[in-house]
Amino acid sequence: MSKSADAALGPLFAAAKAAQAAAYAPYSRFKVGAALRTPDGAIYSGCNVENAAYPQGACAEVGAIAAMALAGKRAIAEILIVGDGEALCTPCGGCRQRIREFAGPSAAIHVAGPEGVRRTFTLAELLPESFGPEHLAV
Ligand code: THU
Repeated sequence: MSKSADAALGPLFAAAKAAQAAAYAPYSRFKVGAALRTPDGAIYSGCNVENAAYPQGACAEVGAIAAMALAGKRAIAEILIVGDGEALCTPCGGCRQRIREFAGPSAAIHVAGPEGVRRTFTLAELLPESFGPEHLAV
């Protein structure tokens, strides 16, 4: 990532880091933060919230998307996900589809570690040939 693009991501990274600090992850001990930017420049964030009934836990992306929807917004321009550890904290399959609902194929998905953005993908790279709202004639 170029320096200027990195600088532009500063507020998104800061929002995701702050969300990560609020994560409730007593079972996996893997805290995740997500922050998305809507086309108007607003930022919405979320953290993972786990549950004693494990499958009921929610990913960080779920919270960020819910915050966006609550604000009446319906479009994701880009999203940044931050997790700890060596491996890339790429969004799970379900969250790729959740992002897909509100983002176009060229929307950027930034994957970050504690030190900053590690890789940037497009949605189409992470979820090729995807199914979306336009497939439904409703
Ligand atoms: N997790 C997220 O919140 N987002 C991701 O993109 C990957 C995984 C969470 C789910 C669970 O609470 C924990 O990380 C371990 O899988």
